[in-house]
Parts: sequence; structure tokens; C-alpha cells
Amino acid sequence: MNEINLDLIDTTGEPPVAEPERQYYYMAKCRALISEKIKKLGRPLYCQTRTFGCQMNAKDSEKLIGILKQLGYTEMSQEDNREPDFILYNTCTVRENANLKVYGHLGYLKKQKAKNPDMIIALCGCMMQEPEVVEKIKKSYRFVDLIFGTYNIYKLAELIYENWTTGKSVIEILDSTKDIVEELPIERKFSFKSGVNIMFGCNNFCSYCIVPYVRGRERSRKPQDIINEIKNLVADGVVEIMLLGQNVNSYGKNLDEPLSFAKLLTMVEEIEGLERIRFMTSHPKDLSDELIEVMKHSKKICKHLHLPMQSGSSHILKVMNRHYDKEKYIELAMKIKREIPDISLTTDIIVGFPGESEEDFLDTLDVVRQVRYDSAYTFIYSKRTGTPAAKMENQVPADVIKDRFDRLLKEVQTISSELTLQNVGKTFDVLVEDVNEHDADYVTGRLSNNSVVHFKGGRELIGKIVNVRLDQAKGFYYMGTMEEM
Ligand code: SAH
Ligand code: SF4
Ligand code: F3S
Repeated sequence: MNEINLDLIDTTGEPPVAEPERQYYYMAKCRALISEKIKKLGRPLYCQTRTFGCQMNAKDSEKLIGILKQLGYTEMSQEDNREPDFILYNTCTVRENANLKVYGHLGYLKKQKAKNPDMIIALCGCMMQEPEVVEKIKKSYRFVDLIFGTYNIYKLAELIYENWTTGKSVIEILDSTKDIVEELPIERKFSFKSGVNIMFGCNNFCSYCIVPYVRGRERSRKPQDIINEIKNLVADGVVEIMLLGQNVNSYGKNLDEPLSFAKLLTMVEEIEGLERIRFMTSHPKDLSDELIEVMKHSKKICKHLHLPMQSGSSHILKVMNRHYDKEKYIELAMKIKREIPDISLTTDIIVGFPGESEEDFLDTLDVVRQVRYDSAYTFIYSKRTGTPAAKMENQVPADVIKDRFDRLLKEVQTISSELTLQNVGKTFDVLVEDVNEHDADYVTGRLSNNSVVHFKGGRELIGKIVNVRLDQAKGFYYMGTMEEM
């Protein structure tokens, strides 16, 4: 895309049918309109985006901002309290409170729009793939100009153009897509690290989870497209990449020429100039010995594995449709720790899944104690309309869930602080990510195992990998000192 010059695109005829050419056409059309508006107003047009949810959404937002910038918008920071001309919310619906946040913001936007009727309000992402949500917005939030889902983010320019030329709200929600449109603009948030989609969608249908309904069936990108993207990123200064998919371990199964995730990793490893490789997320049911072997011998794959457990009870795991039981999970975690001794293991756990008894919960605590996670994301079960678990009758009372949640969190935190203490006094490679939020004399970086460390240093270190000795463990982060290289 960097080589495409929108000024050379012929916008006099009909729009092309093929992608991405069709979008280049609409980008050029929109750009002409925006440049007129900018001239008329005598100031830039500002856009602002807010992203909820996971790394996939973060990556989608980079693509959306990439398009908006091509159109001629100037991006505003979150702190900027100027009124944006275009505001876009990329939403998540994995848990109820993600939705509530969006409705909260919409209440606020209504007031802003009343003051500034020219402001364009757009909503996209996972929440928009739920028909009830779109109905509610159509009824109660009629000031929204643009609604689209997860399958057509690449069409942003076309949808904006339609909104401008018709003057009407545009709603386009697709049910699915087979296509993966490559070669679109992107605005990366960090210069030195980047997420890279390797697959989209999910086929697992865990009984509590809405993702397969809003992100569709699994589609893997071709290895060559992935490798080319990473090579371009590296040429552009990126040293760390995170391969993204809801279940990276099933990557490549549906390609014309199937390829395992482990093989893809070995191909990525060969890219010169790339220093660190991360990936998210690994479903335990598909984690192969081949992957463990590749991780063990790799020089670039980070010493971190996120291995969502969800529950420690074999009975609950069965009802969750996770395809492993307590014993299998522990065996897998132990094998990984044995083969890669300095690996950091993290996990996701749901408390209060329908039918969870005290005994089931004690199984979860037991796995936490046996595996000893470096950190764990703990979630209270949230009922998602349309998933099988939402129809289950034995929902757990809120006070019982709260009690279990608190006990779990305490256990997770105790173990995590014990583990962080073990690394104090040792020196690690650290990728410097930013100037410290609270003290500009300090920078913040990340170890291969994903822990965060703060140490004295300046802005010029951002994007560099340096040696840092860990002096103090402070719960979930360290204080350290940079050493001579
Ligand atoms: N694909 C990833 C998870 C994506 S969603 C995987 O399978 O591991 C991220 C996390 O949100 C999940 O791991 C799960 O712990 C949590 N989650 C998903 N649905 C949920 C629900 N209905 N209630 C509470 N937590 C949920
Ligand atoms: Fe949801 Fe399960 Fe797919 Fe993860 S693997 S996205 S938890 S259905
Ligand atoms: Fe949320 Fe969609 Fe990700 S539901 S967790 S943003 S895939």
C-alpha cells in the first residue's frame, strides 16, 4: 500500500469491482471531498478512535486509522479535548460490561453531537455483529451515522463516501466473509513492535463464548503474505512482532497447502533483523509437541506462553466444550515447564460458569497451585445471549461468585509475587517501550517473559533492546538498573 499514490487513481469512472482497487477508488474520492472541507474550514479535520477488547481489535483499529489518515484526517490523541470531526468506536462484546461501557459513551456522544451536528459518529467491531445491539442503536441512538461489523472494516472509505453522498445513516453488517483483503493502509501505534494477524475467526465454540458468532469461521492467511508483511515491518524498524489469532495452534489447517503453526514460526524465525516473536492465543487442546520443540530451540520466540485454562474442573471443562480435562491440562503445563524451564506461563480463568460447585472451584484453585502462573486474568462469568451457556439453568448466584473470585485473585497474586522475587538480582534483555508515565527520567521496558521493568533512561532508548538488572520486585512489575552492553 505504501507504494499506492491515491492522486494517480482515476475516480471519473465507475468504481472497480475487485478489492483492494475498489477501496483505493473510494479513498481517493473521499480524499478529494475532505480536502475541500479542510480548505473551507481553514483548519485540519480531526478524527479520534477508541478501541475496546483484544489485540485483534487493536490491530483492526490500526487499519481503520490507516484509512482515515489516507482520507486526510488528522488523528487526535485520547487526551486531546478538542471536538473530533469523526469519532469511531471499535467495540468488544466478550463480556457484558464491555457493552455497557459503549452505551455509556454513546450517552455522552449524544450531547456532543447536539452541539456539533457535523460530527460523524461511527461504530464498528464485535458488538455490532449482534442483531439486538444494532436494533437498540437504531431505536435509541439514532444520531449514529455509520455502523459496520468485523467483516468489512476494509470498506471504511466506501461506507463514509456513501454516508456523505446520501446524507443518511449507513449500516452494513455482513454475516461472514471468505475474503481476506490485503494491501490496505495501516497506521501503527508503535514504531518498534507490531501485531500481525495470522488467522481470523474461531471454530471452537466454547459454550460461554460469543467470539465465534461475531468473528466467524477460522480463516488462515497465506504464509507468504504473513512473511512479506513481517519483512516489511522489520525494514521499517520493527524488532518484535506478535502473531495474532484466537487459536494460533490451529493455524494453517484449512490452507490449500496446509502448514502447522510450528512450521510458520520456524519460517518467521529466519527473518533477518527480527529480534522477538510472541503469539496469542494458544488453545491447550491443539498445542503440539512440535510447537514445544520449536520454542525450546528458538532464539527469537519469547519465553512466555499464554495458556488459557478457563476452569480446573474436568466436569466444567466438558460443559465448556474445551476438549481437555484437568489432568491433561496439568500434564501439558508441566511438560512445557520441563522442556523450557525459564518460560513464564500465564492464563485466563472464568469464575462462576453455570453449575460450578465449590468442589469445581477448588479444582481451579488446585491447578493454580500446581502450575504456578506468573500471572492470570480472572473473569467473572458473563452470560452472552446466543451462546449455549446462556440457556443453562444452574447459573451461580452473584455473592457466591464474588467470594470465589476474591479467593482466586488472592491465590494468583500470592504465587505471582513469589515468582517475581526469584528473578531479583538477575540481568535480562529488555525491549524499551516508552518513557515512564510517572517520571520522565525513567523508561519502561519488557522482558522476554513479558514482565515489565522501570529503570533510569531516556527517550532515545525506545525500541532498543538493553540489559537490565532487576533490583526490586513490586508485585507485577520490577524496578531495575540498565547495565553496560
Ligand atoms: N481465544 C482465546 C480467548 C479469547 S476471549 C482462547 O480461547 O483462549 C479472552 C478471554 O475472555 C477468554 O479466555 C475467557 O477467559 C474470557 N471470556 C470469554 N467469554 C467469556 C464470558 N462469557 N464470561 C467471562 N469471561 C469470558
Ligand atoms: Fe472463544 Fe473458545 Fe474461540 Fe477462545 S477458543 S475465542 S474462548 S470460542
Ligand atoms: Fe472482544 Fe471481539 Fe476480541 S468480542 S475479545 S474484541 S474478538
